[in-house]
Amino acid sequence: GLSGSDAEGEPIASAKPIVLGFSQLGSESDWRMANTRSIQDAAKEAGIRLVFENAEQSQQKQFEAIRSFIRQKVDVIAVAPVVQSGWEPILKEVKAAGIPLIISDRSIDVQDSSLYVTFIGADFYEEGRKAGKYILDKTRDMAGPIGIAELKGTEGSSPSIERGKGFKETIASRPELAIVQSEFADFTVSKGKERMKEILKAKGQEIKVLFAHNDDMALGAIEAIEEYGLRPGKDIYIVSVDGTRKAFEMLIAGKINCVVECNPLLGPNLMQAVTEVMQGRTLPKRIVPSESVFTEQTAKKFAAERKY
Ligand code: AHR
Repeated sequence: GLSGSDAEGEPIASAKPIVLGFSQLGSESDWRMANTRSIQDAAKEAGIRLVFENAEQSQQKQFEAIRSFIRQKVDVIAVAPVVQSGWEPILKEVKAAGIPLIISDRSIDVQDSSLYVTFIGADFYEEGRKAGKYILDKTRDMAGPIGIAELKGTEGSSPSIERGKGFKETIASRPELAIVQSEFADFTVSKGKERMKEILKAKGQEIKVLFAHNDDMALGAIEAIEEYGLRPGKDIYIVSVDGTRKAFEMLIAGKINCVVECNPLLGPNLMQAVTEVMQGRTLPKRIVPSESVFTEQTAKKFAAERKY
């Protein structure tokens, strides 16, 4: 807004900063830490005042954060939703308050798409397909049956639902490939290790492939596989999603075979969208960051550029 005036009585454009309320879903993984940092840095750079709340995996806490943003009369609200369903009532409250809302990172399941301005985030289904394609190629000359362990992320979250679907549909083209055990491990290193330990105990002989829905769970699983006495990346092929620095180290060491990139650096896109919303511009309903696939063979070339 405009405030003050100069010697001639002309108003000075001392822009009152835009206030953005952001409900982050948690701090479960290196991806999430990078995502939070990106949003904080980009807000600072854009001169946007960020009111940041961490919901620690609780949708209820996200509701509370959003209600506090409404009470504070922030200009824009952004949400990284922990799960896909159950958002309609709270988004109606936001709409009734006349505050534009942006969905970041994870998609939501709502009938009425006028409840949000835009969704900025990766195509998780495509990520699952890329992981599946890699496994199809990697196991091409392997005799069946080829048992796959799947470490899923957070139950009900869109990355877990979509990656699982994309992967499954892709490997279905070869009947020898079968998911023999699939467990939720909440996108964390510790749960990844725990669940993998149990899977190996139950089906150690059958598992030839691990699809981990993120790098952190793959890192935990690698420890479990080594403790079980098998070689990750050799006895059990591993494909995961994200592209963190630690996963790159494992790619280079040959302990992870392939990482499908999921880009957490959404801050600049988000601040751009916030600014444009405040200018009254029309935004695309969907903004998708570009993403690659990295393998043991190509990891070295890209390792130095990793920002998270
Ligand atoms: O929503 C993105 C996913 O959430 C990332 O792949 C995972 O690491 C994070 O916890």
